[in-house]
This record gives sequence, C-alpha cells and structure tokens, in this order.
Amino acid sequence: MEPFRFHLFVCTQQKPEGVPSCPASGSFAVLEALDHAIQERNLDQDLQLTTCGCMGLCDEGPMMVVYPEGVWYRRVKPADVPEIVDTHMRAGKPVDRLVWNDAPAMQAMAVEHTEKFRAAMAAREKAGTLPDRLDQMSRGYMPSRCLLTALELDIFTAVGAGANAERIGAKINANPRAAGLLLNALVSLGLLSKTGDEYRNTPESARFFTQGSKDNHRNGLLHIANIWHRWSTLTDAVRVGTRIPIDRDRTPEWTRSFIAAMQGNAGERAPLVVKALGTAGVRRILDLGGGSGAYSIAFAKASPDLQCEILDLPEVVPLAADYVSKAGVSAQVKLRPGDMLHDNFGSGYDLVMLNAICHMFSEEQNQDIFRRARQALAPHGRLAVQDFILNPDKTGPQQAALFSLNMLVSTDSGASYSEAEYSRWMKAAGFSEVQRINLPGPSALILGRAS
Ligand SMILES: C[S@@+](CC[C@H](N)C(=O)[O-])C[C@H]1O[C@@H](n2cnc3c(N)ncnc32)[C@H](O)[C@@H]1O
Ligand code: FES
Repeated sequence: MEPFRFHLFVCTQQKPEGVPSCPASGSFAVLEALDHAIQERNLDQDLQLTTCGCMGLCDEGPMMVVYPEGVWYRRVKPADVPEIVDTHMRAGKPVDRLVWNDAPAMQAMAVEHTEKFRAAMAAREKAGTLPDRLDQMSRGYMPSRCLLTALELDIFTAVGAGANAERIGAKINANPRAAGLLLNALVSLGLLSKTGDEYRNTPESARFFTQGSKDNHRNGLLHIANIWHRWSTLTDAVRVGTRIPIDRDRTPEWTRSFIAAMQGNAGERAPLVVKALGTAGVRRILDLGGGSGAYSIAFAKASPDLQCEILDLPEVVPLAADYVSKAGVSAQVKLRPGDMLHDNFGSGYDLVMLNAICHMFSEEQNQDIFRRARQALAPHGRLAVQDFILNPDKTGPQQAALFSLNMLVSTDSGASYSEAEYSRWMKAAGFSEVQRINLPGPSALILGRAS
C-alpha cells in the first residue's frame, strides 16, 4: 500500500559548469512549478514530490519520474507542469508528448553515462586531480564576498526598478567598469537578472536586500561583512592563540549591525525558547547580554505579569530600548547598562537567561557567571543557557565547530562548548536537575535549577 497516490522524483543533481545536467536545463524551476501547482490544487495528500540524483540521462534533462507507474518524463519545462499535474495526476493519463519510454535507448544512454563517469573519475584519480569538493571549499568565499560587497555598496537598492551598469555605478559612487563586473557576477549567482544592458533585482533580492522593503536584512548581514574582516585574521589568530585587533571593530555602525544581526537570529527563535521554558512560576527574568531584547520581548508578550531586566553594554542599551519600545513592552522590560563580567546581578529572579553569551567567554569566566547567576536566583529558580552545543569530541556539529573559530577571531578567549562542559559548570555552581532541551535549528538549551 502506497502512502501517496503518486511519487514524483525530479533530478536536481548539480554538476560542474559546462557539464550537461538537469539543474543546468532548469530542473529547479520545474520543481518550484510542481510545488506551486500541487499546493494550488490541494494535492498534498495525493502527491509526494522528491528531488533525486543523476539518472544518467542528463542530455535529456530535466528528467522526472512518476511512481508507482514508472513513467519517465524528459525535457520538462515549467510551462509543462500544469498539464502534467492536471492530465496525469488528476485525470490519470500521462502526457504522451513528454513521456520517454524507449527503454533500450534509455538504458544505453544511462550505461554509457556510467561508463564515461567511471572512466573520468579513474583518469582524475590517476592524474592526482584535486577533488571538486576540496576545490570548491577552497574558493567558497568568492560568492559570499560578492554578496557582502554588494550589500556594503547597497547595490540592490541602487538597481531599484532596473538600470544599466553606468547608472548603478554612479549611484553607488563606483567605477562603472568594475560595477559592471560585479553586477554580472551577481547575475551569475542568481541575485540579479539581466536583459540587454539592464539589470533587475530578483524578487528575493528586492525583498531581502533593498531599502524600503519591510523584510530588508541588509543591516544584519553587514555584521557578516564585518566578521569577514575578522576571519581574514584567522591564520595569525591560530598562531598567536587569540583575536588580532583590527581597526573596524566596535564603531557605532558595527554595533548597530551586530544587534540587527542578533535580532535577525533571535526574533524567530525567541518564541521557541519561551515555549520550551514556559512561563509558569516565572515572574522576574534577568536577561544577561540581552542584545536586541528579542527573548525578553517574547517572554513579556507571553505573560503580562512578567518583568524582565536586560543587562547589556552601555552602547547596546539604547538600541535594545528601541526594539523594546517598538514591541510595545517597555513597561515590562527594563534595561540596565553594565558589564556582566563584573557587575552584581541582583537577587530574586525566577529565571536567568544566557542566550548566545557563553561562547564569548572563557571556561573560567563562564563558571564565574554561573556562580553569580545562582546567587541571583530565587529558590528553585532556573538558569537557561542557549548556544551551539558541541559533540563530546568537539568535532561537530559543523556550525558549532566553525563558530568556535568565529569566537577565536572575535574574542579574547571565547569558544563553543560541549554539553558535558555546561553540565559540569552548572553542577559546580550549585544547580541540579541539569537537562538539555533541543530546539529546532542549530542551538540547544541547557537548563539547571537552583536547588
Ligand atoms: C551574541 S550577542 C547575544 C544577544 C542576545 N542574547 C541574543 O541571543 O540575541 C551577545 C550580547 O552580549 C552583550 N555583551 C557582550 N559582553 C558583555 C558584557 N561584558 N556585559 C554585558 N553584555 C555583554 C553584547 O553587547 C551582545 O548584546
Ligand atoms: S543530472 Fe539529471 S539525469 Fe543526470
């Protein structure tokens, strides 16, 4: 018994540029059109849409197979999709003009493809060619740097409703030839389109990268551009063992982008944390290094009886105050400028939060914060740490392991830590019932109760 009436497989096997492949002939657009058509017709219960790897019929792509019948479609275009869905999936009749059922020819092509592929791999192996995965990893910064430069120059806003390289270059005060090179690269990355000599934003770029769009993430992404300069010091930081000072840090613009980036990350996660921790028995919260205030705001919105206090650096407090006021919870969320490494935390809190904080500090500093947090809690109050949590051998998850380097280049002695480390520090500080709560996404909560 099939769980779905139809199971559609669309090949999305990426291949090096210039090699025939289904993505090169448009399989991602077909996939999108299928998803759209399925949703539009409320067919989610009947159809399962899945991507798949190469079927060896790349010259005839985009390839798509429909099971359980085993109908193979070739050279599918987005414009064919409504007909395929209506005629085949709804009326049960395959679209003959797109069906490929010449089994001997298909088998011959697939076998030839496999043989060629194996021969090419063997030749590369023999010649000692650098594997594609390693080659791509070594150049991985190029697309990233293109996007970051485009954001630094606010090029997507300058593209506006469409313009040529000369006009765009003039708007961003850039050399027209170089602006043209960057614009073409952005087209190659799918961030712009080009018709004649006119460039246009894709719907995605217009939505996420242009001034005036309510979903503009440019400010937060400029923080990634700022960290890019820090990552360029990684080699020296590894040699020396700590961050290398650079002159771009901690300007007011730097702080604004940093806090916007924190808000971008935390805005989505905060309601999940509120749900995981609950508000039962929680009246007073201390939000150490609260950043934009996203977590305090989410708690305040979840319970009108709750009071939160954000302790953050003096230059961050006015930015947090703005987010808190825009969220309409200023009466419930107070702001305290200070330094969590040295200030007294106060007392009587039901919950102390350390969201994305511990990675900034050394083991000793975190242990000291945990001890002082324990003293600031009311009996049976809780300490909640949210962070990337490393596996016991600290080699993964990848995001946590890479983030440790982000902290090496950005802080004096920060790093990602493992569950065992957090648990040990909490127990040493007098917490019991230490537990881990996994959240959707890359971070998790470690929770301890003041016994
Ligand atoms: C990575 S951000 C996390 C912000 C927020 N908790 C969140 O998850 O969105 C770290 C925060 O700690 C603050 N911070 C760093 N050092 C601090 C210190 N010594 N005392 C108080 N706050 C500090 C930063 O200003 C920043 O707001
Ligand atoms: S890439 Fe799709 S069949 Fe080979």
